[in-house]
Amino acid sequence: MTEQPSADAWQRVDAYLTDALVGHDPVLDAAIAAQREAGMPAIEVAPVNAKLLHLLARLAGARRVLEVGTLGGYSTIWLARSLPPGGRVVTIEAEPAHAAVARASIDRAGVGDRVDILVGLGADVLPTLVGGEPFDLVFIDADKESNTVYLDWAAQLGRPGTVVVVDNVVRGGAVADPAAQTSQILGVRAGLEMLAADPRFDATALQTLDAKGWDGVAIALVA
Ligand code: DHB
Ligand code: MG
Repeated sequence: MTEQPSADAWQRVDAYLTDALVGHDPVLDAAIAAQREAGMPAIEVAPVNAKLLHLLARLAGARRVLEVGTLGGYSTIWLARSLPPGGRVVTIEAEPAHAAVARASIDRAGVGDRVDILVGLGADVLPTLVGGEPFDLVFIDADKESNTVYLDWAAQLGRPGTVVVVDNVVRGGAVADPAAQTSQILGVRAGLEMLAADPRFDATALQTLDAKGWDGVAIALVA
């Protein structure tokens, strides 16, 4: 096939894959609905992407998961559902109103006992986690300007073998467009360059074409 995918075609494929492999769950639908009702941005990960996170956590045997950027708790619920008994998700959210919506949705999903929501900027909250047990998986999905800060903390709060996932590393192709120079895209590029150059990481990235359009995820292992 040499045909380029139209938006219609990839949306159809995304819906097909979501129906076939992810399914629909009233609790997760309710979390999205609560987020929409609260007027929060519709920037949660697509269902196929959420399931990737969930499977990566299970593949890694993750007991302790760190998320930077809770939003309405959609990905948080998926991650919490990956945990073995006694596992924990620590998720950081800068916006108190978002954290309140997430708290209610996470509790309604029945995983509230496994999730700590820490309210504050990542740069302020992450240092307070020093001295705890290392995290087995870290998901970075917050202000893109701070990606290198979050990656540095992921390495510090992880251990050799910790899986690190960074959302939104393609941004409609802007990552490879020299004319794209917003603070967000500069942050994305700096994060990818850090993953390439910093000996604490070994990484790759995949483009994604899903309900949210053309974007991508970086996936790294802490050395
Ligand atoms: C934006 C942020 C995200 O984490 C995302 O997945 C999509 C968009 C944004 O800030 O525009
Ligand atoms: Mg994102």
